Amino acid sequence: MQLPSLNIGNFSRPLPIVQGGMGVGVSLSRLASAVSAQGGLGTLSSAALDRLVGKALGKKVSTREAAAIEVEKSKEAGDPVAINIMVALESTYEASVMGALDGRVDAIVSGAGLPLALPALAKEHPNGKNTALIPIVSSGRALRIICKRWEKLGRIPDAVVVEGPLAGGHLGWKSLDDIFSPNSSLENLLAECLEVASEYGNFPVIVAGGIYTHEDIAKFIKMGASGVQMGTRFLATEESGASDSFKKAVVDCTPEDILIATEPGSPCGLPFRVLNSSPMFLETLKGMHKTICDKGYAMLGGKCNARDLPEKFFCICNGLLSSCGYNPDKEPQLYTVGALAGMIDRVTSVADLMKELCGQATSPNPTA
Ligand SMILES: Cc1cc2nc3c(=O)[nH]c(=O)nc-3n(C[C@H](O)[C@H](O)[C@H](O)COP(=O)(O)O)c2cc1C
Repeated sequence: MQLPSLNIGNFSRPLPIVQGGMGVGVSLSRLASAVSAQGGLGTLSSAALDRLVGKALGKKVSTREAAAIEVEKSKEAGDPVAINIMVALESTYEASVMGALDGRVDAIVSGAGLPLALPALAKEHPNGKNTALIPIVSSGRALRIICKRWEKLGRIPDAVVVEGPLAGGHLGWKSLDDIFSPNSSLENLLAECLEVASEYGNFPVIVAGGIYTHEDIAKFIKMGASGVQMGTRFLATEESGASDSFKKAVVDCTPEDILIATEPGSPCGLPFRVLNSSPMFLETLKGMHKTICDKGYAMLGGKCNARDLPEKFFCICNGLLSSCGYNPDKEPQLYTVGALAGMIDRVTSVADLMKELCGQATSPNPTA
């Protein structure tokens, strides 16, 4: 199938493939700009950018400055780029939005909670009206709540990402029963969201979670999706910021190695998909982890669950920072992956991956 282009707000991409934002440090400017250069839409992650950019520049930078610097870097070649800003990262949310807008980001993609305040924040910034605002949801109900609220603030979503139960990172359901319910299948969620989108001017619906092959993409496009968002496949690329041990763990893992962590779980309070070989997960599970918990990005209402209840929650900030090579000697790594990570058998370049996703065969060994 010839894949269609993807039109969002006032920009267009030749391919309907969005690389999902991956924190911490997995999707930085190197990965996002490589994906956009190949005709998809690359997405930065705003998580802990102040530390990551500060370390790269060798000086202290604020969250707002870091977001602007990383967006500008990712747009050097002139292609559109998005940024993922998680609602759950309360203390840095507003500064990340403002910094991304300072850097003239093309789209802000926001989930891990309902991004109800996003249009109001964007309105405060001179670049806000030219930037596409894209919520991430896991139900038509959540999308309807967002559309109603945003309409009152004078905006409707420029697109929506609907994330199903096979995705990597945090999952948008409270219980495992809900995650595994047939009602939560990505096909069902797409149908629900298409219905809501049709009531609000037919904005594009982008599906995420467990999309792996060209055939998967073609299937969801035929079902009415305007595009797909993929995380795990881009995690295992040369351009991703994951540490070598993280990439090796992904290549080596089998489906049995992937589980949904609830206890110990993420301090953000949502189920979180992990590799059971993650050193941070294992140490917390065995009650052996002596938490440092000194970053505070995942504080909710001024409190951090991982700091207060270290036997029930792992330190997601330090674990994920470590898994992208930030102070890996200080804290064990934490690996999050999508449910289909067991299918990954090699690390590839973004260019080769994009060719494969477009239906053009690539070989790991060109002489084979
Ligand atoms: C390593 C990793 C980190 C992720 N980090 C984030 C994040 O910071 N914010 C977010 O909204 N989604 C995050 N996700 C979800 C992805 O953006 C994407 O929607 C999801 O992984 C799609 O499912 P797939 O991995 O099966 O392709 C992450 C996923 C992975 C694998």
